[in-house]
Amino acid sequence: VEKPKNEMDSILSYSSGTKEREELLREIERIKKTTEEIPLIIGGRKVKTGEVIEIRAPHDHDVVLAKAHLAGEDELKEAIECALSAWEDWSELDWYHRVAIFRKAADLLAGKYRKRNIAAIMMNLSKNPYEAEIDLAELVDFWRFNPYYIRFIYEQQPDQAPGEMNRTDWRPLEGFILAVTPFNFYSIGGNLPTAPAMVGNVVLWKPSRSVIFANFEIMKILMEAGLPDGVINFVPFPSKWSDVVLSHPDFAGLHFTGSHETLVKLWKRISENITRYKNIPRIVGETGGKDFIFVHSSADVKAVVTNIIRGGFGYQGQKCSAVSRVYVPKSLWPAIREGLLAELPRIKYGPVDDLSNYMGAVIDEGAFKKIVSYIEYAKAHPEEYEIICGGHYDSGKGWFIEPTVILTKNPKGKLMTEEIFGPVVTVYVYDDDKYEETLRLCNETSPYGLTGSIFARDRYAIVKAEKMLRYAAGNFYINDKPTGAIVGRQPFGGSRWSGTNDKAGSWLNLLRWLNPRTIKETL
Ligand code: SER
Repeated sequence: VEKPKNEMDSILSYSSGTKEREELLREIERIKKTTEEIPLIIGGRKVKTGEVIEIRAPHDHDVVLAKAHLAGEDELKEAIECALSAWEDWSELDWYHRVAIFRKAADLLAGKYRKRNIAAIMMNLSKNPYEAEIDLAELVDFWRFNPYYIRFIYEQQPDQAPGEMNRTDWRPLEGFILAVTPFNFYSIGGNLPTAPAMVGNVVLWKPSRSVIFANFEIMKILMEAGLPDGVINFVPFPSKWSDVVLSHPDFAGLHFTGSHETLVKLWKRISENITRYKNIPRIVGETGGKDFIFVHSSADVKAVVTNIIRGGFGYQGQKCSAVSRVYVPKSLWPAIREGLLAELPRIKYGPVDDLSNYMGAVIDEGAFKKIVSYIEYAKAHPEEYEIICGGHYDSGKGWFIEPTVILTKNPKGKLMTEEIFGPVVTVYVYDDDKYEETLRLCNETSPYGLTGSIFARDRYAIVKAEKMLRYAAGNFYINDKPTGAIVGRQPFGGSRWSGTNDKAGSWLNLLRWLNPRTIKETL
């Protein structure tokens, strides 16, 4: 299948395909007109607590998508009880019964509920239809690929020898898992609770509060697909109640995507509680990044410009993989600068229900303020930074920030080393003959190690970057943007501050949710 050349082409073809477009717009209108009341789901039951928060569209303060109930101490205790009681049967069920449910859910999502969910992602996460559809497709992939890997895991059995017969019993963990999911990918929202569940675990799911509306769509599909009560419990809760979960003796694992700071906090709480647990919990965490594009003097300038824009400004830069810093050789900077200045002002941003907008809003006020503080910092330090494009923002209707490119003289400065998580790309220009030196600098100033790219046509330059940046990125791309990993093709994750690198979208992640028992029978 021929890929669209870029997102804008795809959006335009989406909007001109009348039936697709009309259906999507109808779903969006339906969502805009209603405010859904979202309960917790505990043991398959809808639970309303009265502690309610409003979920609004990031690009339109006037659109209230939902009023969502939050769990308190009692509901969390109840959810744990329900999960543990579901574990008795679920953990014993043959794997093919379990995966059939998730394959069914994938079909529902790819078919009957596709438009509804693309519209929900657009309205709640503020993604354009192209990014929203990719996000939905990624969850379908997780629900189809993980069952595929599971078969191969269960097939792994030990060697035999005369006088003995050996087996591996692929047990799930003994206890329950807490899945804490982020705002920026609906697919991660769906994958984090379901990957452990597929191999027999039971889960409490704490979705990011900003996206409870879109995430609840996932829960509804899982229930319709036949997920037994209590296997996954949908319990958004304020962090003040974390200890109810993290101090429970049956807490067996954390599946987390979010900020580095939050993972560290949770890890500390888990370590403080370590003697209470029946098992040493598994911790799988994917956190942030300070992802880069590194350009060699042999690079194709057009490709560099396109991929800075796609990698830096796709979904408003709110991807842990988004391009955030760029290293450019002096010889190519004038052409790259010219390319960026020609393309960036053409990027349309605004409410994503206008299908011609490439960029929507950032997720909420907290994100808006944080990103704006970096732009203001750059403006306040002209000796170090020059805003070459963008730099404006407006929170009147939604949380909008213009795609912004900032040039810096300081490769070790704040904007080159701190995660911004928004549409801000910082560029450092280096002398062409300092390629190796600058690669070393890039590595040494990478507290995170998530994603990165090298753009070069010189093979020796590519090999050098691949070697010297070995730990600077767990997902390394050559002549491509560092975003958009595909399940099964680019297993995703990084180390250093970016997490435990347990590679979502591969069998490696599923192994973390299994607790193999070796059985030796003497003959
Ligand atoms: N998997 C996403 C990407 O590769 C980030 O979570 O862009």
